[in-house]
Amino acid sequence: MYICICKGITDSAIREAVCQGACRMRDLKTCLGVGTQCGKCACHAKQVLNEVLADLSHVKIMLHQPNHLVEAIN
Ligand code: FES
Repeated sequence: MYICICKGITDSAIREAVCQGACRMRDLKTCLGVGTQCGKCACHAKQVLNEVLADLSHVKIMLHQPNHLVEAIN
């Protein structure tokens, strides 16, 4: 789904950028250009950023607690 129409940035592109290390809106602006024209996408882009960061922290917790990982798989 397109998040930033001006720059043609999708939620997948934001997800990929976060997986590559972007962790702030400033990072997304720098690496993707999100929100650098009309700015209407900023709120939605921030929401996607926060969702991906939450997903990644959940995975990190599961990796540090192998028993939870086994439970999640079963
Ligand atoms: Fe992202 Fe315009 S929609 S800058």
